[in-house]
Amino acid sequence: MLTDMGVLADPFAARMLIPSMGAVVSLVRRMPYRIRAQSVTLAGLAARVLWFDHQVTKAVEASIEQIVVVGAGYDSRAWRFGRPGIQFFELDHSGTQRDKARRAPGGGPKYIEADLSGQSAADALVQGGLDESQPSLFIFEGVSMYLDEAVVRRQLGELGHIAAVGSRVAIDFQPPRDAGTQRNRRQLRLQQIARAGSGEGFKLVIDRVEAVELVQGCGWEVTAVISMREAAHDLVRRESGLPVNSINDNKTLVAAVRS
Ligand SMILES: C[S@@+](CC[C@H](N)C(=O)[O-])C[C@H]1O[C@@H](n2cnc3c(N)ncnc32)[C@H](O)[C@@H]1O
Repeated sequence: MLTDMGVLADPFAARMLIPSMGAVVSLVRRMPYRIRAQSVTLAGLAARVLWFDHQVTKAVEASIEQIVVVGAGYDSRAWRFGRPGIQFFELDHSGTQRDKARRAPGGGPKYIEADLSGQSAADALVQGGLDESQPSLFIFEGVSMYLDEAVVRRQLGELGHIAAVGSRVAIDFQPPRDAGTQRNRRQLRLQQIARAGSGEGFKLVIDRVEAVELVQGCGWEVTAVISMREAAHDLVRRESGLPVNSINDNKTLVAAVRS
């Protein structure tokens, strides 16, 4: 939908949709643009995707050639940013990985199957071919909130341990439920209803100061902290009309480096 609106350029997402989501998208596509453009959810997603895209661009410019997407879901960066010399790794549950591999275009990432709750992402990645002697960018987009805090700490700590100096991590955090405006809380309730039955309930909700402490406490040096709303101001095209001012300012994006 964001590609239709000219906010992103993702020609790969649509073909990876499961039929029910495809039906939702074709329904929404029939709505007038000005109605779609009122969505705070789309505004937040635009900010999030563009900020993580920006982290990939900066990492590649810094000669990082291994990009690891943890909890990748149907991420399309392996194709959008794919080029000779850059190796993508995607880690997720086995069921998600297999379904994705069926729907996705050829080529792309090395698929790594692991359950972050009980398995070590670091071990799985090294077994899957990650070169520990070379720096990597580790992306955790829309994932930390679905894991227990102890799991996030363990995974970030272990990745920090195997990561070569110069490696980077980019991660977003969901704020406590009562943070933000009335509209933000209403949006959260709607999203919870939409997700009901998916098994995806929030486990880790955390404010900005705690988020920074968490990442630093796992051995990473924080280099940038920004709210999702600020990221939207920086990165989402104004002409899109998306309500960037209504994005929950308490959602946090953190970038860090292994020094
Ligand atoms: C909301 S989706 C985000 C997907 C993608 N990163 C994005 O931003 O579009 C959360 C992803 O985390 C994965 N995930 C959640 N818990 C996990 C776990 N314990 N082990 C592996 N993957 C997990 C889910 O399967 C899902 O693909």
